[in-house]
Amino acid sequence: MHGADPRLVLGLHRSRHHHDILTAALDLGVTALDTAAAYLGFRSHAVLAETAADLLPKFTLSTKVGFFPNAGGAEHSLDPVRLRLAIERAARELGREPDTVLLHNPERSLTSLSPADGHALLGSACTALVDAAREGLCRTWGVSSWDTRPLGMVGVDDLPSPDVLMVRAGFLVGIDLLDTTAVLRNVWQAGETWGMSPFGGGHRKVWEEFDPRPFLRPPHRGLSRTQAAFRTAFHLPGASKMAVGTDDPVHLAELLQALGAEVDTFAVSQYLRALHSHRQS
Ligand SMILES: NC(=O)c1ccc[n+]([C@@H]2O[C@H](COP(=O)([O-])OP(=O)(O)OC[C@H]3O[C@@H](n4cnc5c(N)ncnc54)[C@H](OP(=O)(O)O)[C@@H]3O)[C@@H](O)[C@H]2O)c1
Repeated sequence: MHGADPRLVLGLHRSRHHHDILTAALDLGVTALDTAAAYLGFRSHAVLAETAADLLPKFTLSTKVGFFPNAGGAEHSLDPVRLRLAIERAARELGREPDTVLLHNPERSLTSLSPADGHALLGSACTALVDAAREGLCRTWGVSSWDTRPLGMVGVDDLPSPDVLMVRAGFLVGIDLLDTTAVLRNVWQAGETWGMSPFGGGHRKVWEEFDPRPFLRPPHRGLSRTQAAFRTAFHLPGASKMAVGTDDPVHLAELLQALGAEVDTFAVSQYLRALHSHRQS
């Protein structure tokens, strides 16, 4: 096994959950998995426990609660009682407590509420996760949000600060979302920021048209475009970890290799300035 690199988190959203990719990840030094109660048709936890019981203790594991199965689909809820039951169920299904539990896309339950009602509901949901962490059902807790804008609208400054704020990252994220996320994590005093979905879930053609290698320092520009996009995503917004999905060990090795590259942060600042001035014009 290579030296572990905690910056790369293997995300299981689109994964087939095969034993092989988890073994390859460990061999390469990827020791963090991110899943959710809702992944793999609400079977992710159980399938991980079935197919990879031998491997699971070797990973740090984050999971998410907030989506619940209903007739033929999924519904979102921030009901603290349902969240608590979901956290207990996650530990039962996995056969171990997850290291981190994240509220899964809480914005989904906030958009139809007044700011005051949204604030109260989000607060009670956060408290459910704080309590779960305090009682040992997980080590840390946080919020994973695809669209941080509704969270900004309800006001979070007096709500419990999450240990982790997990947000969309990379070149495919618009400047409005990057700005909202920057404000949100400061106001909320989130402990760590984790990025997610640096390729937007796929979109390979984008990198044929756009070459992100100039965002790497010159000695590192020999990497591929996808490697450069992945590495630069750690600065859009600034993130300590990145959850990325792949079922291909070769791709995973490429992503790990990219972590060795240095990003030209001046180029990133220029890019952000350009996006701001384009929006104002
Ligand atoms: N709201 C939320 O909480 C939320 C939402 C979305 C995602 N997430 C988290 O973020 C993780 C990643 O998101 P995601 O899977 O949607 O998007 P992603 O990581 O941006 O994209 C995954 C896609 O990128 C491809 N890829 C990965 N490495 C590559 C490489 N080196 N070269 C070429 N293609 C490569 C994969 O294909 P191959 O399999 O062929 O490599 C896969 O199709 C999720 O698993 C989850 O943990 C959270």
